[in-house]
This record gives sequence, C-alpha cells and structure tokens, in this order.
Amino acid sequence: MSHIDLKNLSLTIFGESHSPMIGGVITGFPSGFPLPMEAILKDMNRRKPGQNRLSTQRREEDIPRVVSGILDGVTTGAPLCVLIENTNQHSKDYSKLKELPRPSHSDYTAFVKYSGFNDIRGGGHFSGRLTAPIVFLGSLCKQLLKEKGVAVSAHILELDGVRDRSLLEYLPSLAEKSFPAIDDKTGKEMIQRIEAARDNLDSVGGVIECAAFHMPAGLGGPLFEGMEGRLSSLLYGIPAVKGVEFGTGFGFSRQKGSEANDEFYMDNGQIKTYTNHNGGILGGITSGMPVNFKVCIKPTASIYKEQRTVNLKTGKNDKLSIEGRHDPCILVRAVPVIECITAIGMLDYLL
Ligand SMILES: Cc1cc2nc3c(=O)[nH]c(=O)nc-3n(C[C@H](O)[C@H](O)[C@H](O)COP(=O)(O)O)c2cc1C
Repeated sequence: MSHIDLKNLSLTIFGESHSPMIGGVITGFPSGFPLPMEAILKDMNRRKPGQNRLSTQRREEDIPRVVSGILDGVTTGAPLCVLIENTNQHSKDYSKLKELPRPSHSDYTAFVKYSGFNDIRGGGHFSGRLTAPIVFLGSLCKQLLKEKGVAVSAHILELDGVRDRSLLEYLPSLAEKSFPAIDDKTGKEMIQRIEAARDNLDSVGGVIECAAFHMPAGLGGPLFEGMEGRLSSLLYGIPAVKGVEFGTGFGFSRQKGSEANDEFYMDNGQIKTYTNHNGGILGGITSGMPVNFKVCIKPTASIYKEQRTVNLKTGKNDKLSIEGRHDPCILVRAVPVIECITAIGMLDYLL
C-alpha cells in the first residue's frame, strides 16, 4: 500500500500487478459532485494497455468499480474507493526474476527490502499497472478542476531526441489525439523511434511536459509548503519518473538574470509576466501564469536484449533474457497519468 497525505486530500493506492485486483482511495474529495464517468473512462482508455502496437500486449478492460463515496451517482464526501480487476496475468513469465533481477527495475531493491517475499509477478506493487486507479481518482479531480476553470494538459515534449513544440505556445485539447504530441509530423517521427527500439529488442525514454492553465495566483507557500515540492513528491510517485523540472529548470544555469527574469506587465487589470521561466511558481506560490513543468521518464527497464545481472541464489555474475509483455516506451501511456496526478495536487490547493 502506498499513501500520501496532502493538505486537504489523501491518496492511497493498493494491489499488485498480478493480484486479483488493484485499487485506490481518495479522502477529502468534496460532496455533491456528479461522477463524470464518461470523461474518467476516456482518460483510463488513454492509459490502458494493449491499445496499439506501441504498448504492451497485456489486455485489460480496466473497468472501475466504485465501492464507497458515491450515492446515486454523486460524491458523498466519504472516502471514495475504486477497485479494478486484473484479468490478463501471465505469471509464469516472471518466475526467473526472483533469482535474476532486471537491471534498472525494482526486482533487486524489493528483494532486499522485503527479504525476497515480494510478489515479483509483473513488477508486483511497483508495476505501472498501479497507475490505473491513480488515473481514475486523478481524472475525477481533473473534471472538478475543469468546473473551476482550471485545465490540466500534458504531451510528449521529447522522445529519443525528437522534440515537439511547447505546450505553452498552444492551448491544446490533446486528450483527443491518438498519439500525444502537438505536432503530428513530430508525433510520427516519435512513433518510428518507438517501433525501431521495439524491433531492436530495446526501449526509449523521453520528457513529458505538463501545464495547469488558469490556476489563480497566491496558492502554495514558502519553503516546505511550496508547490514545487508538493507536486514533485506526487510526480516521483509515478514509476519510471527520474527527473522533474519547473519552468526553465536546469536551463537557468545558462542564463543571465536579465534573460531569466519574468518581467511583469498589466493585462486588462491582471498582473502577468512576459515570459514564464519560473513555471508559474514564485517562492513556492502560484503567480497566475500557467504552472508548467517537465518530467523525465526513463527507457523501459524490461528490454528483450540479453543483459548482465547477478544470480541472487548463487551469488555469481549471470545473464538475463526476459520474457513477459512490456511497453517499448512508457511515455505514451504515462501522459494521462502525469495529467491525473497533477490534477490531484492542484485540486488539493484549490479546496
Ligand atoms: C504506465 C506505465 C507503464 C509501465 N510499464 C512498464 C513495463 O512494461 N515494463 C517495465 O519494465 N517498466 C514499466 N514501467 C516502469 C516501472 O514500473 C518502473 O521503472 C520500476 O517500477 C522501477 O521504478 P523506477 O523506474 O521509478 O526506479 C511502467 C511505468 C508506467 C508509469
């Protein structure tokens, strides 16, 4: 079970990739909100495995069953719990990973932490599958944010060196696109890179850019109350996220103050900035500009090329060729996950 307490909301995620079911609980969600099931299912479909040739061929229906917190289709204010059945496990594919941990996956660290009693099948509690309940609960938050005038959107900014336009140049409705890149030509190039990696028994990583538009100024706080820290702890909770960068981030190291500073101006009675190098956050507090950040997702650890590892039983160096079904690139399915976890963080500040 994984749990995080925010200021107003709390989030708990439980289950394992090959357990009978997985699920999540959100507390603090306001009462009286009609469950927007159609919109939530749309987001869940964007994350669902087996949708195209770019994703793992594990086929799951991902039908959410809400078992508390809803009465007559409306939130009651009680903890909202969702369950999702696992129906398409191939557990035998994973038997050798108990002895031969996959490089870059959690097999070795989980073995040490849980003395070898961890469920390794499909990555167990560390699996990307655990992001399905996150998407259900986060999409619910996203729909409530929409009512409050806040839009959260993400896309693949960079994949294997191929770069898309920035989200900030373009107010998008990317959720409707089959591949989450703004520029279709760039999207096609990204697809080719994923297919090439897959054909080469390899994987690719990249960068997801996300923004929350129309967040009011003044939310957050200094030091450890800051929005960057709070959001980062949610974002790093998503498997395979290895970097988070707000606004210009590490790019600040190459700028002078005169280039980096976001100068203010008045726009119809509203204070705005000409640029948004600070990603909409100053002193941990929203400035009213889009909250904008990038998330680096590593190449999928499970690749079909033979790799060097250690045999935990014999204590000797060994080789590993994996079986099982894996995404050659995690980013495509991670885009809605990043949107939804961000929506949970943003709603927490607005409540
Ligand atoms: C949507 C999604 C799908 C994923 N699919 C896979 C996969 O098919 N194979 C794999 O090795 N890792 C996959 N991962 C990533 C692993 O779960 C993750 O790399 C692993 O737990 C180790 O954690 P870390 O990379 O955060 O250190 C996926 C992650 C997400 C968010």
